[in-house]
Amino acid sequence: MKVLVAGSKGMLAHDLIPIISKEHETTSLGVDELDITDKKNVFDVVGEIRPDLIVNCAAYSRVDEAEKDKEQAFLVNAYGVQQLALACQEYGCALCHISTDYVFDGKSTKPYQPFDLPCPVSAYGASKLAGETFVRSILNRYYLIRTSSLYGKNGTNFVYTILRLAEKEQALRVVQDQQMSPTWTVNLAQGILRLICTGNFGVYHLTDQTDGGINWYEFASQILKTKGSHKEIEPTTSQEFARPAKRPQYSVLDTSLFTLCSGYEPMPWQESLQHFIDMI
Ligand SMILES: NC(=O)c1ccc[n+]([C@@H]2O[C@H](COP(=O)([O-])OP(=O)(O)OC[C@H]3O[C@@H](n4cnc5c(N)ncnc54)[C@H](OP(=O)(O)O)[C@@H]3O)[C@@H](O)[C@H]2O)c1
Repeated sequence: MKVLVAGSKGMLAHDLIPIISKEHETTSLGVDELDITDKKNVFDVVGEIRPDLIVNCAAYSRVDEAEKDKEQAFLVNAYGVQQLALACQEYGCALCHISTDYVFDGKSTKPYQPFDLPCPVSAYGASKLAGETFVRSILNRYYLIRTSSLYGKNGTNFVYTILRLAEKEQALRVVQDQQMSPTWTVNLAQGILRLICTGNFGVYHLTDQTDGGINWYEFASQILKTKGSHKEIEPTTSQEFARPAKRPQYSVLDTSLFTLCSGYEPMPWQESLQHFIDMI
């Protein structure tokens, strides 16, 4: 298959591109070559390359900054995605689009199914939901994959933050009242590779396996344990540790439909973390 990856300089794309390139003829472009908010640029590039599938890794992903910078978040995550979807429609290619657990409000007590009703509580979540809506209303041939709490080699992420803070003297305080499933970008990339070969278009959830979710305090503790650090961590609450953007209290995603439709089994989160820490 001829695949075009948009947003090639990002954290997910960094791990996805080598994995996809092994099996597919892949062109990967960063914002300098393919700015998804520039309609002419999008149509010119897609018209020239004529991919069978576009994987969209481009996004405005700064959750807290999006609260003050809503216009830019919507420009990239909604309008930009709309342009990609329209170009896919024009040139007859499929779209694999990546979305987020932050489209949900976090009021559930059990893992979210792909067809549960989204209700974002942040500007970032709202902008990503708007992008999803464009994909679903413009195209029939799409894979829409929601994932959560990504960490990978090439990007700012929670694992790096905890390891960096652990080296300093200050006490670590991490929230204990938000449940999620962390996801290693290499695993997400492997899952994407499996799904895009199936032709089973639709909405999916893919994260690492946590059996109902873990909280950030547990995740931080496991990061230090895996690294062999004895630094103490103190649990705290999201009220004490306020941030500009509200996070869902519970954003665990049910991945069973992904496994059913692709055959890909998510890796247990501790195993993923071990691989990642061994690698960095
Ligand atoms: N990170 C997470 O924890 C997480 C969780 C759930 C879902 N997701 C979703 O997963 C996907 C990948 O996330 P990620 O962490 O890999 O994001 P990332 O590292 O921020 O990568 C996104 C890339 O898109 C680029 N970009 C921004 N505006 C663009 C535009 N107009 N045209 C083309 N490229 C543009 C960014 O460039 P600049 O850096 O120069 O802006 C960046 O290189 C995103 O859809 C994100 O919403 C992420």
